[in-house]
Amino acid sequence: MQLTTVYYELTAAEFNWKLSEEKEIKAWGFNNSLPGPVIKAKKGDTLIVKVKNELPEPTIIHWHGIRLPASMDGTGESQKPIMPGEEFIYRFELPDAGTFWYHSHHNETIQMERGMYGSLIVEDELDPMVDEERVFMIDDMKLTKENDFTRGNFFKRWAERHDGREGDTLLINGKELPTINVNAGQTERWRFINSSSARYFLLHLQGRKFKIIATDGGLIEEPVEASRILITPGERVDILVGPFEEDDQFEIESLPYNRMTFLKPKRQSFAKIVVGKQKASKASIPAQLRKITPLADRSMPINRNVKLSVGPSLKNGIDFLVNNEIHANDKPVHVGELQIWEVSNTSMMDHPFHLHGFFFQVLERNGVAPEYISWKDTINLAPKSKVKIAWMPDNRPGIWMYHCHILEHHEAGMMANFEVVDPAVGELHKGQHHHCH
Ligand code: C2O
Ligand code: CU
Ligand code: CU
Repeated sequence: MQLTTVYYELTAAEFNWKLSEEKEIKAWGFNNSLPGPVIKAKKGDTLIVKVKNELPEPTIIHWHGIRLPASMDGTGESQKPIMPGEEFIYRFELPDAGTFWYHSHHNETIQMERGMYGSLIVEDELDPMVDEERVFMIDDMKLTKENDFTRGNFFKRWAERHDGREGDTLLINGKELPTINVNAGQTERWRFINSSSARYFLLHLQGRKFKIIATDGGLIEEPVEASRILITPGERVDILVGPFEEDDQFEIESLPYNRMTFLKPKRQSFAKIVVGKQKASKASIPAQLRKITPLADRSMPINRNVKLSVGPSLKNGIDFLVNNEIHANDKPVHVGELQIWEVSNTSMMDHPFHLHGFFFQVLERNGVAPEYISWKDTINLAPKSKVKIAWMPDNRPGIWMYHCHILEHHEAGMMANFEVVDPAVGELHKGQHHHCH
């Protein structure tokens, strides 16, 4: 395969966007489109993206799931914000195939809510041959009657900080309840990305079976048949669907999931699928998609604990904590030293834990091995639960982070920075790192 350099330009700006015939919003996003353009490349390519900021405030762009150098990670620790009128050039290689995404990593509870995200699809020769591929970016917006993003009174804001912001305008690729036409007799690959602030998306196709083929970090070993799968904010899941019968109709829906908030779980519909004429299929799905080498044995000792919790706060009513701190600084890790972490959630609500820049494997969830091995960068922690994960800091020293991907929880403190240290060089920054928010 020929390796190439792929070049994109993204201009962040405010623009009018129609969510439906009735609803038009002042969106913030890329290239006047919501989501931003699909960035497509092949495994091994070098991606160059020039980001121009035409918003009235600074921004930073993060490349969720890409194993890139720390300096390109797009956080307040790794770069200066891109000021209004300025631009920044991101440049990195794409070492993995899979479904990734880019999004604002600055004032996220506003910027992402208003639409600053897009998908980044990295293809590979190993990808199974399908008849059609679609990317579905899941989102929701909480809009006023005037279709703006104004926040409510003190109590509403407090609830939003506690629960994360969920709204009733349910979107797939920036559209409210779109109709999607597919052909009968075909096998399609659907790549789901949950780009919402806080919504838990429990994917269901009104009972139609599908096959899970990939998670955050690309293909799993073998297709897994399912009729539902939970996709939390930040997570990705690729499924194979079909072949469907001619004239079949169904909805892409989310089943009720109780993440223990004030918000009541509901069944909700995101899109309508209409199956048209029969078409010949060229799909070919191997029984084995790829081989994933285990990073560690389940019995290996834990070398770090990360505790997610909530606690009372005099100033804010409630704080969201990592190891009892808000906006924490965790100990450094060394290049080449296998990490076995236990991430626990002692709170009474769910949190999707996200690690920047590296994939991990789940060894155990509450002491039980997962059903299948996969590469993850975001994993849900149900109330009073824990996961044991393994990951390897490869030679990409610098400041990295992990956080809860419910944007309001991240903002309220449930995050930590830590350094990956090349032992030959030593720590770059001694002492406290400062988080910018
Ligand atoms: Cu989607 Cu800090 O990440
Ligand atoms: Cu959280
Ligand atoms: Cu942060």
